[in-house]
Amino acid sequence: MLAGWFPGYTPTMPTLRPRRSDLRRSDSPHSDLPGRARRDAPVLFFKSFLERPKEVGSVIPSSRFLERRVARAARLDTAKIVVELGPGTGGTTRALLRHLAPDAHLVAIEINPRLAEQVRTRISDPRLSVYTGSAADIDDALRSQNLGAPDVVVSGIPFSTMPKSLALEILRSVRDALAPGGLFVAYQVRDRVKVLGRMVFGEPRSQLEIRNVPPMRVYRFAKP
Ligand SMILES: C[S@@+](CC[C@H](N)C(=O)[O-])C[C@H]1O[C@@H](n2cnc3c(N)ncnc32)[C@H](O)[C@@H]1O
Repeated sequence: MLAGWFPGYTPTMPTLRPRRSDLRRSDSPHSDLPGRARRDAPVLFFKSFLERPKEVGSVIPSSRFLERRVARAARLDTAKIVVELGPGTGGTTRALLRHLAPDAHLVAIEINPRLAEQVRTRISDPRLSVYTGSAADIDDALRSQNLGAPDVVVSGIPFSTMPKSLALEILRSVRDALAPGGLFVAYQVRDRVKVLGRMVFGEPRSQLEIRNVPPMRVYRFAKP
C-alpha cells in the first residue's frame, strides 16, 4: 500500500537495526512536545496534506533518524545563520535547534500560514524566527531579521511537485543568498532537486535514509 502512496518506496528494502542510542527516544518527531501539541501536530500535518497535497508533499512528518542525518549533513554545530525551508509542524525545526549553537539564528520559511502559526506559537526559542511566505523570498526573510548570508539552508519542500520554473527560481535564490562555501541540504523522495540543483550548484553528495516513511535521500550541495 505504501508503494502506491509513495513513489520510490519499496517494501522489500533492507532494514537497518537501529543503534541502541537511537532507541532511547521515541521515533516520533514530536515526542518532545508537551502533551496536547504532541497529539495535534501529526493531525494538523495530515490535514494540511489533504488540503494542499502537492505543497506539503508527505502524509507524515520526518522521522528522528532523518532529522539526525540532515543535521549531520548540514554541519549545524559550526553554523551561525541557518534557514529552514518548509518547517511543516516544526519537528525538523526543533531538531535543527537542538544541534545549533546558543548564539546561532534559525529563520524558518513556511508558505502555509496555518503551519507557520503552529511553529511560531509552539516553539519558543529566541534563536528562531518564522517567516510566512515562499522559499523564493529567502532574501526578504533574512532582511526582515537583519541577518546576512546564511551558512546553511535546509530544505524539506517538495521540489518534484512544483513547476520547474519555480523550482529553479528557489534554487537560484538559495544559491545567491548563501555565504561563499555555504551548504544547501535538501531531503527528498524523488531526485528532481538533484537534477535541477546540479544545474545551479554543481554535483551534490547524497545519502539514503531508509528509517523514514517514505525512505528519503539527503542531498548536499555546496556554493562554489
Ligand atoms: C514534506 S513537508 C516537510 C515538513 C517538515 N520539514 C518535515 O520534514 O516533517 C513540506 C513543507 O514545505 C512547505 N512548502 C511547500 N512549498 C513551499 C515553498 N515554496 N516555500 C516555503 N514552504 C513551502 C509545505 O507547506 C510543508 O510544510
